Amino acid sequence: MNNRERILVIDDELAPRESIRMVLKDQYAVSTASGALEGLDMMIQDPFDLIVMDIKMPKMDGITALQKIKHKHPDTEVILLTAYASLETARDAIRFGAFDYLLKPFDKDDVLLVVEKGLKKRRANTGLRLERDILFDRASYLEEQVTMARNNIMTCYEGTVNALILTIDAKDHYTYNHSNRVAKLSSSIAEVLSIPVKTVKEIENAASIHDIGKIGIEENILKKNGKLTLSEYTEIKEHPAIGARIVQSVPFLEDAIPVILHHHERYDGKGYPGGLKGEHIPLSARIVIIADAIDAMMSARPYRDALIMDKVMSELRNNSATQFDPEIVDIILKGKVPLV
Ligand SMILES: [Fe+2]
Repeated sequence: MNNRERILVIDDELAPRESIRMVLKDQYAVSTASGALEGLDMMIQDPFDLIVMDIKMPKMDGITALQKIKHKHPDTEVILLTAYASLETARDAIRFGAFDYLLKPFDKDDVLLVVEKGLKKRRANTGLRLERDILFDRASYLEEQVTMARNNIMTCYEGTVNALILTIDAKDHYTYNHSNRVAKLSSSIAEVLSIPVKTVKEIENAASIHDIGKIGIEENILKKNGKLTLSEYTEIKEHPAIGARIVQSVPFLEDAIPVILHHHERYDGKGYPGGLKGEHIPLSARIVIIADAIDAMMSARPYRDALIMDKVMSELRNNSATQFDPEIVDIILKGKVPLV
């Protein structure tokens, strides 16, 4: 008996209020209220499934009460009771959300029919709302799963990049420090070029492992102080391709491949390994090429001192459009990128 649908009958007149209660009480849990204010109060305590309510009542009329009920309890269906004189008002009330109306004096079967129809609509709405809630729950669960998966991928990604950086460090400490500085400078240049944040991070990571291929080059060549022989130089020129081969087995590092493979190209097409020219060189690589050169010039090496800033700037100017992308050189010459 407890799960019977709950109906509230609101009418200031006892006779119609009681007669409707008598009609409905065998099938539904029926409560009554002698006015709209009392009825609204009862709704706050425990909302009803359906309300049968008179239109003409003192203190608050049925149309005002209807709007208040639909505002707070949109799922509760409302059937209005009306005398013939208020019939137009009752019809108009449908647009305020009333389900239907009953004309006084009412017929017992009509009351049962309209009330059952109203409850049927409410059941359907409740079912739809439940389904919608289940779908929302499912969607937010899937969203959480995607976020977790994305975080796991980022952890793997950063772990792999770190492992590669440490591999470079174990082989050649200079290259390790140099790569870190190149990564920071590349990221600063990319930011000034208004590249999206996600891509800036990818360029920074790619720059930090741009020389990873050097782990495949003999140490005595890598650390040689004197001039390289032709065959040694030929071997060193292999490091971009070796690096690209190392990272191509890691799917989420594929964005780093253009930087690793093309960071020794020249803007005039005289670089290696592809001899790519101008904008055929990926933008990420063009950024790292300049960052790589700036850091190399600003670092002291066993065979020469670090260049002073004026000299670095004049080297960039002299090699603009031959070795370097002139647009990137331009923003550096204009002081838009902090170099130290
Ligand atoms: Fe390199």
